[in-house]
Amino acid sequence: MEQVLFKHNRPGRMTSFDEYCDEGGFAALARALAEMTSDQVQQTVIDSGLRGRGGAGFPTGKKWSFVPRDLPGPRYLICNCDEMEPGTYKDRVLLESNPHLLVEGMALACYALGVQHAFIFVRRGYERVADSLRQAVAAAQQAGFLGENIRGSGFSLELDIHQSAGRYICGEETALINALEGKRANPRVKPPFPAVKGLWGQPTVVNNVETLANIPAIISGGPQWWKSQAATPEAAGTKLFCVSGHLARTECFELPLGMTLGQIIDGPCGGMRPGSDFKACIPGGASTPYFTKEQWNVAMDFDPVAKAGSRLGTGGIIVFDQNTCMVAVTLNLIRFFARESCGWCTPCREGLPYVRHILERIEAGQGEDSDIEILREHVRLLNQAFCALAPGAMGPLDGLLKHFEDELREHITARRCPFEGMRS
Ligand SMILES: Cc1cc2nc3c(=O)[nH]c(=O)nc-3n(C[C@H](O)[C@H](O)[C@H](O)COP(=O)(O)O)c2cc1C
Ligand code: SF4
Repeated sequence: MEQVLFKHNRPGRMTSFDEYCDEGGFAALARALAEMTSDQVQQTVIDSGLRGRGGAGFPTGKKWSFVPRDLPGPRYLICNCDEMEPGTYKDRVLLESNPHLLVEGMALACYALGVQHAFIFVRRGYERVADSLRQAVAAAQQAGFLGENIRGSGFSLELDIHQSAGRYICGEETALINALEGKRANPRVKPPFPAVKGLWGQPTVVNNVETLANIPAIISGGPQWWKSQAATPEAAGTKLFCVSGHLARTECFELPLGMTLGQIIDGPCGGMRPGSDFKACIPGGASTPYFTKEQWNVAMDFDPVAKAGSRLGTGGIIVFDQNTCMVAVTLNLIRFFARESCGWCTPCREGLPYVRHILERIEAGQGEDSDIEILREHVRLLNQAFCALAPGAMGPLDGLLKHFEDELREHITARRCPFEGMRS
């Protein structure tokens, strides 16, 4: 397969601006500015079938088309590089290796959207990412790919890097917009959606790093070529899968979208670690319901994964072996979500600590049979919270109840964790 996003990567270091340009970097932007209208760029992205890589898989071109054409005043593009979902590190790898791809992708997106001022919202603690981006923005500016009247096209673009104060909720697009405005990072009521009323009340598109990094290849290779990089006719493009857990190789791989879970694990990941058998995995970042061996042949693409009861999410796959206690895994994740709740709405603020408390009791061998129904009720209730954080937090709990109810009951009956002393 061809590497689309990792094509220009160098082992162990960042690709320089000159290296990127020598290998065709910024040619897509130069061509688009010289030969394509902004509508044509947008239509090419629509034709490619690109779906957002930030978690929800929303079609990118369609999202762009929601931005009103004739509203007066500025419009904005924000690149979401908050990446605080446990198990997800793809945007970090991409940007530490080749930040120029994102700068070019953002410039193309801004041209298509009529945006003159864009932001990259970077996770707190991603110092190397912020450094790489600063270098890339400065180099692009110096070479005339950012700034006033780019390449004499009449199109101007200012690109700012903003470092987050550091909360998971800042990754939710409307909380992110509040944070960028200097306000407390609570999610906003939708509608109005950001495409209509976002940053400082103006039309705003929020896209993930990986989403935007795909745009140069879509423009230079054409939508059909880009689409055909997937493993199935239904899927489009490649996907970054950042894997972790009990595998022989754990790293961030660029793979055709639509490869099956089993093909990913037995192929690039080199199978399970010696002595480990596959028990379960988180298929798409911490907020997605578990897959078990039953889903081994599911195509890792948005719709098939949803049909199989989970979400492709961010592509952060975490694999667990036979010695892993799934109650402990779920408790660990719920602790994270409870800590990161913004506290705005009651079901999430009160419900997550209560779920944590019940799982702690069960894991400590002090659970009751009735706890299982209480957990089930919380999955139902928290799915009705104000933003997607709480439903996301219920993903692993839902998976635990669906696939590992026996394991939960074993903790309660034996009055201890059956995996005590077995964890690796
Ligand atoms: C709690 C929470 C955290 C999120 N964190 C991120 C994140 O770190 N990066 C990201 O791109 N999207 C994140 N999202 C999804 C964004 O709200 C938004 O859908 C995404 O940035 C849109 O980009 P895309 O259309 O390119 O996928 C998060 C959503 C929620 C509810
Ligand atoms: S669901 Fe949680 S994170 Fe979202 S608004 Fe409510 S309290 Fe805040």
